[in-house]
Order: sequence, then structure tokens, then C-alpha cells
Amino acid sequence: MLDTPASDAPNDLESFWMPFTDNRYFKANPRMLASASGMYYATPEGRRVLDGTAGLWCVNAGHGRETITAAIREQAGKLDFAPNFQLGHPLAFQVAARIGAIMPANIDRIFVANSGSEAVDTALKIALAYHRARGQGTRTRLIGRERGYHGTGFGGISVGGIVSNRRVFGSGLPGTDHLPHTHDLARNAFTRGQPEHGAHLADTLENLVALHGAETIAAVIVEPLAGSTGVLVPPKGYLERLRAICDRHGILLIFRSQPTETGDEVITGFGRLGAATAAERFGVIPDIITLAKGITNAAVPMGAIACNREIYDTVTGAPGAAAGIELFHGYTYSAHPLACAAALATLDLYRDEALFARAHSLEARWETAMHSLADAPHVIDVRNFGLVAGIELTPRPDAPGARAQELFRKLFDQGLLVRATADIIALSPPLIVTEEQIDTMVRMLRAALTELA
Ligand SMILES: Cc1ncc(COP(=O)(O)O)c(C=O)c1O
Repeated sequence: MLDTPASDAPNDLESFWMPFTDNRYFKANPRMLASASGMYYATPEGRRVLDGTAGLWCVNAGHGRETITAAIREQAGKLDFAPNFQLGHPLAFQVAARIGAIMPANIDRIFVANSGSEAVDTALKIALAYHRARGQGTRTRLIGRERGYHGTGFGGISVGGIVSNRRVFGSGLPGTDHLPHTHDLARNAFTRGQPEHGAHLADTLENLVALHGAETIAAVIVEPLAGSTGVLVPPKGYLERLRAICDRHGILLIFRSQPTETGDEVITGFGRLGAATAAERFGVIPDIITLAKGITNAAVPMGAIACNREIYDTVTGAPGAAAGIELFHGYTYSAHPLACAAALATLDLYRDEALFARAHSLEARWETAMHSLADAPHVIDVRNFGLVAGIELTPRPDAPGARAQELFRKLFDQGLLVRATADIIALSPPLIVTEEQIDTMVRMLRAALTELA
């Protein structure tokens, strides 16, 4: 059983500048987690909290998995750190091969970073380097989508589409554009799975091509399923259409080449949608896939960029390229031995426990359970795909986001962890969740929604 010695209680909250947090509110009303096991966190006081969000969409195999812990411990005692600049260590190559093996065909050249943000910025830079290596250096425009979340690097916030992540940080990278988001409450509310309406929104890419000229466009980056903004499921045919428009303009898709359509799968990778990738699940294969979160079961930070072989061959084998470094990019901790050990143990767990298939088998049960909240107070939409759900609430006229924030705090105090973003509650439990635990989540959500003003 979880044991949380009282001495863990921090006595100075001021020093830590918390990310994405109302620091003033939190430090006056701290909510701490002290340990975790399986589907549960525990507070310093020993109170159990059911994990409805797999931490931050990342603890897909459940908490405190012994084989992962043992792998990290053993690795720390064997090789704690080794540079991957001009040197290597065996685990890095093993991890790359294992990740490549579960990616769509040919997307098996793996660059390693330390987070989703680094993975996104790396993918954008690889897209630019790829076009340059092919003598198409005019392709520098990067296209994202409204409400898109691609981390907090300058590349990520530039292609990202969430105003609060952008407005105070200047204009970002030059030459970025945004497709419209696909959220349409009027026509798609309470849809189970992929919405009927919205594929036409991909056509805006055609307008951008007409405006700028295809030869200026380097990459399109989208989340197959937009998580951080509040769970936006791609409308039927939308992803396919996005790709088809690229083909129509003779814009070599980075599928086969440029422009690069990059799938940001930081959330959707590693079983979240019942398959190794959303690309596999939706049957639309981009040329670059960014990964993080579930890659190490969040036991050690890691991000990865799975690239199409042609991209790798083009960048590393550019005709006439002088011998030497092909891509001047990387991080000190790229493919850190501990992260690699954690990733290998995690991939073993996903395989040995068939967790992706398990997530897939739970989908119908999850969908029915989540949609049973459609008539709960304040609920204006329920969205779902894979083991993800978004429950949208009526915003309070004078305080957008406050209702969901209040629900998040109330549920945490009652023993359930959910994610609040604007007025949306997002759920994405570890893939080991049981049907009983899903029912418990629904029961607790309905009770809390009923109590909520
Ligand atoms: C789609 C997507 N891309 C990138 C990121 C950034 O990842 P990180 O927080 O590890 O930097 C996230 C994080 O939630 C994400 O959801």
C-alpha cells in the first residue's frame, strides 16, 4: 500500500515557479501529490486520488511499474550519462529501432529529444533542413492550426494556435499561418467518435497555397486529435482531405516529400487511441511524427521525432554535401541513458500487456460511460475518441474557465484527477483503467457537476 511519510510536506512554497499555474492561488491553497501506484496518486496526507488523466496524458501504463523502476535504477548504476554528439551508447540505438518498429512503414529514422516541445521544434527544423537539402530553400513557411498546441518552444507557439500561449511572447517565427480549428458545437455537439461536419475546413490550406505559392510552404503541422485545447476529434475525412490538397497542388507531400505534413502525436502516440499512433488509427500517414509523454510512461522525460526514411536520407546525404555534421541540432540529454532504459522497459510493458489493444477494447465502454453525462448539469458537449474524452461546460458569463477550474479542484478534493482547460474537462486515464474505475469516474463527475453552481 502507498505510504507517505509526513516529513515530505514542503515548508517553502515560494521558491518554485510553477508552470501553467496560478502560483498565487496554488501557494495559498496547495494541492500536492506525494506518491503514485497503478491507477492512483496519493496526497502527503495519504488520501488516494484516482488518476483520470494519466498525469498529463503520459502515464499510459499506470504508475510505479516495477520493471520500469528497476530498469532506471540499474541503468543509473551502470551508465548514468553518455554524450550522443559524435559518440553513442547502445541503448539509444535500441530505443530508436524499437520506436521505428511500431511507427507506420518507413517512418523509422528517429531523432531523440527530451520533451514534446523539443520534439516539435526539432521536427520543424528538420522540415526546413530537408527542403534546403533538396535545393528548395524557398520552402520556409510553417502552417499550424487555430487552437493547436505544440508545446512552448518558439517554434511550437508560432505554429500553435492558443492565444494565451502566444500573446505575451512577441510575434514568434516569421512566415507562419494557421488553418481554422474544427470545433463546431452547432452541428457536431454530442458526437460519438469522429464528427460528420468539418472536413471542408481543410480546404483553407488551398487558400494559403493560392496566397503564398506552394513553393514557399515547408510544412503543415496538426495534432490528429487536439488534446490540450479541449479534445477536438478530427471530422471524418478531414485528415485525408488535408493530405489530398497537398497532392493536388503538386506539393510533394513529405509523405513522399514536401511539403511536410507533420503529425504531432505527443498525446495520441503509444496507445491513447487504441493503436501505436493516431496515424495508424486514422489511416493517414504523415512524414514526421513527434512523440513524447507515453514514450517512457513519463518515468523519465523523453521526446522523439520519427521521420520518413527519405527525409533522413535527403538531409544526411545531400548531394555534394561536405563530410561532417549533417544537421546542426540536438540536446545534451538527447537519448539520455536513463530515459532510454525507461523507454525500453515501457515498450516491453505495452507489448507484453497488449495495452494498445486493451485501450481499443475499452473504447465502446468508455464512450457509453462518458456520453451518459450528456444530461448532467452544465454539460453542453461530450466528445470522445480512443481513451480520451472532453466534457464541455457552459461558461459562466462573467468568468470564462472558472466553472471547469472549480470542478477540477472539487473533484481533486473528492479523489478524482481530471484536466481543466478553458471550460472543458478532459479525461485520458492510464490504459490499465478498469470498467469499475470508469464507472467511478462517471459517478463522481455527475455528483460534482450536480453540486456545482
Ligand atoms: C500535441 C502536443 N505537442 C507538444 C506538447 C509539448 O510537450 P511537452 O510539455 O513535453 O514539452 C504537448 C503537451 O501537452 C502536446 O499535447
